[in-house]
Amino acid sequence: MKRVDDFRLQLGSHELIPIMVGGMGVDISTAMLAVEVARLGGIGHISDAMVHTVTDRRFHTRYVKDRLSQYKFNVGNLDKSAAQFDLGLLAEATRLHVGNTMEAKRGPGLVFVNCMEKLTMNNPRETLRVRLRSAMDAGIDGITLAAGLHLGSFALIQDHPRFHDVKLGIIVSSLRALQLFLKKNARGSGRLPDYIVVEGPLAGGHLGFGEDWVKYNLVDILAEIRDWLHSEKLDIPLIPAGGIFTGSDAVKFLGQGAAAVQVATRFTVTQECGLPDDVKQVYFRATEDQIEVNNISPTGYPMRMLKECPALGSGVRPNCEAFGYLLDASGHCQYAEAWEYEKANLQKGQKPKIWDKTCLCTHMRNFHCWTCGHYTWRLKETSLRESDGRYRLLSAEHVFRDYQYSVDDQIELPFSD
Ligand SMILES: Cc1cc2nc3c(=O)[nH]c(=O)nc-3n(C[C@H](O)[C@H](O)[C@H](O)COP(=O)(O)O)c2cc1C
Repeated sequence: MKRVDDFRLQLGSHELIPIMVGGMGVDISTAMLAVEVARLGGIGHISDAMVHTVTDRRFHTRYVKDRLSQYKFNVGNLDKSAAQFDLGLLAEATRLHVGNTMEAKRGPGLVFVNCMEKLTMNNPRETLRVRLRSAMDAGIDGITLAAGLHLGSFALIQDHPRFHDVKLGIIVSSLRALQLFLKKNARGSGRLPDYIVVEGPLAGGHLGFGEDWVKYNLVDILAEIRDWLHSEKLDIPLIPAGGIFTGSDAVKFLGQGAAAVQVATRFTVTQECGLPDDVKQVYFRATEDQIEVNNISPTGYPMRMLKECPALGSGVRPNCEAFGYLLDASGHCQYAEAWEYEKANLQKGQKPKIWDKTCLCTHMRNFHCWTCGHYTWRLKETSLRESDGRYRLLSAEHVFRDYQYSVDDQIELPFSD
């Protein structure tokens, strides 16, 4: 009977355990988690989402405070176009976050950065250029382009000295998205992605589907993409993601020609994951009916989360002058607009409560938006309950090894005391 360890992922000169732990912003997939996965021989991801606040937390810098004091004058203004990001500081923060992570890396695996292109940051093209280039400057092994693929991304970095050295990958949820990306990027830069993550509808975070996500399944999308690549004589490693909960689930995909798998949910309850411990307990306790896909993200993409999370129905004042990662090219965010509308229609003394959008920046920063994968409700099967009713947190090594060696859909529990 095969197990994941019978397979290897070949990426250039690197031979890896075919387990990639996906990026989880904002600092849910911490540097500690990514470095640990690399030590074990797989691929770990950090994320560059809200890099200033992550850097402030990691290195006691003051990027967010300084930005807020610079733009405080604009807080009452719905048009946020004045609150531009300083590109020099963005580069500095990215280099700090990425550079320190790479210095800590040990062992045979790799560390990549997940770069959500939908973080348009009030100046989509230039901020993306800086994010990508400064991660490359800081020695990142690879970049996974996610949510909201910018069709000219490769052109932004094609003159960088590491353009052919850094592994470049993309996340897509349909053949059409892949075809569009290849058409625009291959034409401009003459370079294909080194890997393609095919993310199905059961994944965590933002989904690359519409409201009809439930009609799709990962096996079919992967087969369609694999067959098309084959017909085009393109040999690019495919990495399915979304709902791969056991080593045996992974083996099924590897047996059908996947080069590796990308997983995330099982690592949300590890010690190395950035979520606060109490939130990890909420993930453990979650039942299937507490998980929903909704449209409250100002990105416009559906997002899966736990219904009881504080981000739902909160009326927090928009924080674009401090954060502002979702501001579009003209300085607008859907949440800021929803908030203004709600405020204008309130009776005196009432507090705003907004249900159709959320201030994703504020809530992700505070770990109040509990985005999760579909199988979060199964996490309780993966650990033991202590006498006080809390579930035992796992080590990333334990979860990684369980994916690597398990057979028969078994899940290895931690040792009991
Ligand atoms: C808590 C959480 C946060 C996530 N955040 C991101 C993100 O910031 N960017 C991204 O591309 N994918 C994100 N994802 C998706 C994962 O990287 C991964 O592709 C997917 O969740 C794999 O499916 P699984 O969770 O069922 O294993 C997130 C997933 C989870 C569970």
